[in-house]
Amino acid sequence: MESNEQAWIDLSLIPRPWHIEITGCEHPWAERPVVVHKTRLDELPADTPNWQRAEAYRLEITEGRPTISAESEPGLAAARRTLRQLTARETVPDLRIADRPAYEWRGLNVDIARHFFGPDELIRVMDIMADVGLNRLHLHLSDDQGWRIEIPGLPELTERSSHTSVGGGPGGYLTRAQMDELARAAEDRGIALIPEVDVPGHTTAALHALPGLNPRNTPDVYEGIEVGISTLTEALPETERFLAAVFEGLGRYGAAGIHIGGDECLLTPPDEFTRLVARAAHHVRKQGHPVIAWQEAAPVLEAGEYVQVWDERQDFAEVAEAAARGVGIIASPATRAYLDMKYTPDDPIGLTWAGTTSVREALEWDPKDLVAGVEPGAIHGVEACIFTETIETFDQLTYMLLPRLAAVAEVAWAGSGIGQWDSFSRRIAVTWRR
Ligand code: ACM
Repeated sequence: MESNEQAWIDLSLIPRPWHIEITGCEHPWAERPVVVHKTRLDELPADTPNWQRAEAYRLEITEGRPTISAESEPGLAAARRTLRQLTARETVPDLRIADRPAYEWRGLNVDIARHFFGPDELIRVMDIMADVGLNRLHLHLSDDQGWRIEIPGLPELTERSSHTSVGGGPGGYLTRAQMDELARAAEDRGIALIPEVDVPGHTTAALHALPGLNPRNTPDVYEGIEVGISTLTEALPETERFLAAVFEGLGRYGAAGIHIGGDECLLTPPDEFTRLVARAAHHVRKQGHPVIAWQEAAPVLEAGEYVQVWDERQDFAEVAEAAARGVGIIASPATRAYLDMKYTPDDPIGLTWAGTTSVREALEWDPKDLVAGVEPGAIHGVEACIFTETIETFDQLTYMLLPRLAAVAEVAWAGSGIGQWDSFSRRIAVTWRR
């Protein structure tokens, strides 16, 4: 099947599908039953991996009647998403779309530690994610400024450290019942939750709640926005009890992976850092879940686990070594995928440490270019991130996310956004009005 670029521009589909062919004339759209086939998709190359087969679909519209075909439920869900976008139009041409994602992991990381966002807001975020084909919601659940998840056996964490946030806001946290509700909402939308507790740095809230983690000087919770100001200490017995309880406590929500953090540990001696992240990883592995860590912790990761690459200022040698032993790379380059960066220097909110990021810059990149010297197959996915130091309200969150999240989602689904700006900017202008 030939791909027809003009067709996807005219139809304003985001993310753009793999192949699209217009096969007939436009018909006024009328609500019609969708014919659904669960069947093998012969158009997929024989070496298509199972995860990609599972999300692949075909969508045909003939005489205005839609038929969707896929090998399994995720593919049918992806077909329905594309159909929803098409049928927001008044007329729809007869067509045939064959589609599959380029990357299995298509994520968004939301920091609910610097400012808290609760279940209703996170479910609205998941609705947006599902609309653009994203399937991993990574929750950054703890940081210096607040602790945001109930952990069995350690009630002090939420009792003492959940009521703060950057700038002195009220904070909040997710109860187990709310996490269960989020997990159900995620499953309904084809999204997996990825809980993160960031260790051994970014831990002032934990050190404040549990004095045994830092017996000499229990700090106040921190409400500023510096980083690298806290660390766990390996020699304290409370540290191991904390790591075991926290990472076991995340297990119920972490079947797709548990993120152990590992970034910006400026106060942790290097050898101690390695042993501490290895302990955290041990408690995740014990439950049979994959470990995910920021790039600084790449050396402790094993084949089948994931390293999240964010800081292009650092040397990537250890990331490349991890990739060579089978660790999958999740591409979150801060200059492209950090949606807390300002769009332009005049934005009232957002940060600029990685520069400013226009919609075009969020689109026009290829994850395969991020880490030199790794095989293209080493890139497991793409994840946008939104850290919330300057973001206090849901309106501010969506202002920063959209439309850039749609641009990163296109990179994640279609594989690259290079050369797509003219097309994307025309498509998003229409999709945005719907
Ligand atoms: C990070 O932005 N410190 C992962």
